[in-house]
Amino acid sequence: AWSDALGEREVLLASPRSFCAGVDRAIDVVARAIDRYGAPVYVRRQIVHNAHVVRELEQRGAVFVTEVDEVPPGQVLVFAAHGVTPAVRAEADARGLSVIDATCPLVSKVHSEVRRYTGRGDTVFLIGHGDHEEVEGTVGEAPGNVIVVEDVAAAARVAPRDPGRVAYAMQTTLAIDEAEQIAGVLRERFPTLQGPRRDDICYATTNRQQAVRAIARECDLVLVVGSANSSNSVRLVEVAQREGVEALLVDDAGQVDLRALKGVRRIGITAGASAPPHLVDELVHCLSGLGPVTVRESQAEPENIHFTLPREVS
Ligand code: F3S
Repeated sequence: AWSDALGEREVLLASPRSFCAGVDRAIDVVARAIDRYGAPVYVRRQIVHNAHVVRELEQRGAVFVTEVDEVPPGQVLVFAAHGVTPAVRAEADARGLSVIDATCPLVSKVHSEVRRYTGRGDTVFLIGHGDHEEVEGTVGEAPGNVIVVEDVAAAARVAPRDPGRVAYAMQTTLAIDEAEQIAGVLRERFPTLQGPRRDDICYATTNRQQAVRAIARECDLVLVVGSANSSNSVRLVEVAQREGVEALLVDDAGQVDLRALKGVRRIGITAGASAPPHLVDELVHCLSGLGPVTVRESQAEPENIHFTLPREVS
């Protein structure tokens, strides 16, 4: 099997790929909190959905917990990039924790939309995956007044309290085409439906999907670096597959099944917004161990987005 994988190859790097501004900031928050307050610094849930990032921060003194009640009173607790419900904030306050909020500002924006709509009496359709932490957090802004809509079928049958007072919002890391289809069904069914001016899918998700779509058709195989619980990474695999190319999600180079490389001459590589850039370098390096590799990078507008840090660590 190993010798089947040998050969000369071309690698097409999708650009942009890998870390977004919200992930960069969240990792920075934890690292700075450890420097400033000393280890351990507690983090509720994975700071970002990537196994490597979590392991690297654990080695520096971060302790990851599932719920607030696992944190000893008086300690420092960081909320992850995906956001939390107001109930979780209240619980951390009641426990006397020093909270530092690493919620991505683009997730916070969706929370405030939901508060605004539900505050004036609308039912909000939240397009997204019900089991994702971001969606759990957003729903928690107005439990009972937010209905998660996962797909077109759900959009076709959803029954709000008052069909004349409805709005929608989205999870930030959906596939643009799928989310638009679902929104389209809702708009058709509820003519007065309110919603965000464009959509709630963030710039990083949008750009990474466009970038992988642009290279997919030129490739025999697309490898997406990212963890299985990373929504935006899984969407990149699906977007590539919808272009008709085989696509696989890998946490790192070690996960690449050499059998999948048989006869593959052109490999597209991208990485989800939570996957560290060094993993892509390592993957390319690994491929070059199987034969000569020419690397080409797709051209894209540079992303110049940065978010300011929370004051506790700035
Ligand atoms: Fe924020 Fe989008 Fe990244 S919501 S954390 S910028 S993937």
